[in-house]
Amino acid sequence: MSRKKLLAANWKMYKTPQQAEAFVGGFLPLVHGHTRDEIVICPPYVSIPALTELLCDTNVGLGGQNMYWEKEGAYTGEVSAAMLLSVGCTHVILGHSERRQYFGETDETVNRRLQAALAAGLTSIVCIGEVLEEREAGITNDVLRRQCENALRGISGEHVAKFTIAYEPVWAIGTGKTATPEIAVDAHRVIRKQAAVALGDDAAQKLRILYGGSIKPENAKALMSQEEIDGGLVGGASLDPKSFAAIVKW
Ligand code: PGA
Repeated sequence: MSRKKLLAANWKMYKTPQQAEAFVGGFLPLVHGHTRDEIVICPPYVSIPALTELLCDTNVGLGGQNMYWEKEGAYTGEVSAAMLLSVGCTHVILGHSERRQYFGETDETVNRRLQAALAAGLTSIVCIGEVLEEREAGITNDVLRRQCENALRGISGEHVAKFTIAYEPVWAIGTGKTATPEIAVDAHRVIRKQAAVALGDDAAQKLRILYGGSIKPENAKALMSQEEIDGGLVGGASLDPKSFAAIVKW
């Protein structure tokens, strides 16, 4: 089963519209003609419109870092799927560990967001992963199974092309500590097995499972050449055009 890899940049709370434009000016020539992997950039909301035209008809897609499940309403600070679509987004990150840690996201709210994103036609990157204490306590696999089961509750396998799961061990995010390819592959197998319960075996084989957490140009090849790793979600190292291009071209 060959799954096209997805390399997604999660810019978090970095880059104004001007800085986003400057990045793209440097980045596009570096990845021109690169079709082996799918490439997506997820800027902060206010910087998305600056890239709508610049990325239109290129090999680089655009995504949001979150979205709310309601269509519209009195939800201060939130944006809807339709709003992301209206500025050219094709993708959205959901349930990032920073959302879970600092902004009260739960497995249940992540599932609601995923349902809404699917209904709207956005491709979701659903993040799950254990914290250090859970790994040290030997309960990583239980945590991954629970997060995966809850995220995929009520989701049909026929939609599998429209979402991915990103395995992001929280201890590896922004810490410079990358999971070894072996650790990532083991976790991905657990996730795929759990996904098969929700989606069925065929769909689970098609599901793309990304790795995220301190991916850098120096470790991208070792991770991305694993058959079980279907791409990466890149934070810090995606902020520089040369660095993200080097990762994309692993
Ligand atoms: P990092 O972040 O690459 O800076 O570790 C990854 C992520 O949070 O998605």
